[in-house]
Amino acid sequence: MDPRCTMGLGILFVTVFVLSDAALLKRQAYFNRTAYLPCPFTKAQNRSQSELVIFWQDQKKLVLYEHFLGKEKLDNVDGKYRGRTSFDGDNWTLRLHNVQIKDTGSYDCFIQEKTSKGSVILQQTDTELSVTANFSEPEIESVPNITRNSGINLTCWSKQGYPKPIKMYFWITNSTNEHDEDMQISQDNVTELFSISVSLSMPFPDDVFNVTALCVLETASVKIVSRPHYIVLPEPQTDQKENSSWILGAVAIVFISVFFGLLLLLLVKKCLRKQEQPGIS
Ligand SMILES: *[C@@H]1O[C@H](CO)[C@@H](O)[C@H](O)[C@H]1NC(C)=O
Ligand SMILES: *[C@@H]1O[C@H](CO)[C@@H](O)[C@H](O)[C@H]1NC(C)=O
Ligand SMILES: *[C@@H]1O[C@H](CO)[C@@H](O)[C@H](O)[C@H]1NC(C)=O
Ligand SMILES: *[C@@H]1O[C@H](CO)[C@@H](O)[C@H](O)[C@H]1NC(C)=O
Ligand SMILES: *[C@@H]1O[C@H](CO)[C@@H](O)[C@H](O)[C@H]1NC(C)=O
Ligand SMILES: *[C@@H]1O[C@H](CO)[C@@H](O)[C@H](O)[C@H]1NC(C)=O
Ligand SMILES: *[C@@H]1O[C@H](CO)[C@@H](O)[C@H](O)[C@H]1NC(C)=O
Ligand SMILES: *[C@@H]1O[C@H](CO)[C@@H](O)[C@H](O)[C@H]1NC(C)=O
Repeated sequence: MDPRCTMGLGILFVTVFVLSDAALLKRQAYFNRTAYLPCPFTKAQNRSQSELVIFWQDQKKLVLYEHFLGKEKLDNVDGKYRGRTSFDGDNWTLRLHNVQIKDTGSYDCFIQEKTSKGSVILQQTDTELSVTANFSEPEIESVPNITRNSGINLTCWSKQGYPKPIKMYFWITNSTNEHDEDMQISQDNVTELFSISVSLSMPFPDDVFNVTALCVLETASVKIVSRPHYIVLPEPQTDQKENSSWILGAVAIVFISVFFGLLLLLLVKKCLRKQEQPGIS
């Protein structure tokens, strides 16, 4: 065959090969933990890693790691990724440690073969990495010594989550949901993590002496509920006892007054009769 023809076929072959073998994977990792960027070598050929060049690039083409003919090679690795990676040769997986929100993005793994004619890419795998962080459990704080006059004044907060939360609100037992809430979301400009807080101020509900408050955090994927926060008015029972004893006292006074009134009436009647009798006889 004409050598030019062979070369042409070779290029065509490689192009088709690469296109058909570019796989897209999705992976999720937690902030500050380890991300796994797989490079599954699906070709059945018995290729040893010592014959191949395996390397990962981010979307800016910066090299994370290179496994060059069986050995780690640092020359092309970008400073950003130095010391943050480790290669799992059994799984053909790259571990990216201490993952940051900024690491969200796409990563390409290439498996290359060195031949006498040059390098041939045998396989390319694209991984979409998303990074999330769990918000801390919402915690309720209250001003101390709540009385009926002071009303309810609560704050709830949750820290260091990602992505941005939707909302946070209070749930108060035996109360309509119409209370003013002031929600605030802030983002750390270094870690890019979000924190959220909500404050509530409302009068103490009438006719009850205790209230249970819950705080609910809603993100795109979950709803997290705080532990219940109990608010009990100081010694509500004494209040009630004083009230009822006052009523009891009033009833007793009325009863005694009526009793003595009747007694007086009887005595007066008796006296009148005694006065009449001598008059008749
Ligand atoms: C990251 O994790 C380490 C322990 O694994 C911890 O000490 C450190 O505080 C964490 N950093 C952040 C920003 O959460
Ligand atoms: C791969 O190598 C093993 C032994 O190392 C052999 O049994 C197997 O048939 C080989 N497979 C292929 C596809 O060459
Ligand atoms: C890597 O492979 C081992 C077994 O060979 C397995 O137990 C482990 O779960 C794998 N790890 C990943 C991240 O796939
Ligand atoms: C985050 O939350 C999910 C579901 O609540 C849980 O399965 C997972 O283990 C948590 N991850 C971390 C790193 O705390
Ligand atoms: C709350 O009450 C306790 C005693 O019940 C008292 O020691 C404390 O000073 C009070 N705090 C405020 C802010 O009034
Ligand atoms: C609620 O308490 C905070 C302090 O914890 C205070 O700054 C705020 O003024 C209080 N709000 C009302 C309406 O009392
Ligand atoms: C308050 O709610 C509890 C259950 O959450 C219910 O058993 C009770 O009857 C309610 N009280 C009033 C006054 O609505
Ligand atoms: C982050 O914000 C603080 C003020 O809240 C500012 O002093 C600091 O320079 C900011 N850092 C960056 C990297 O923007």
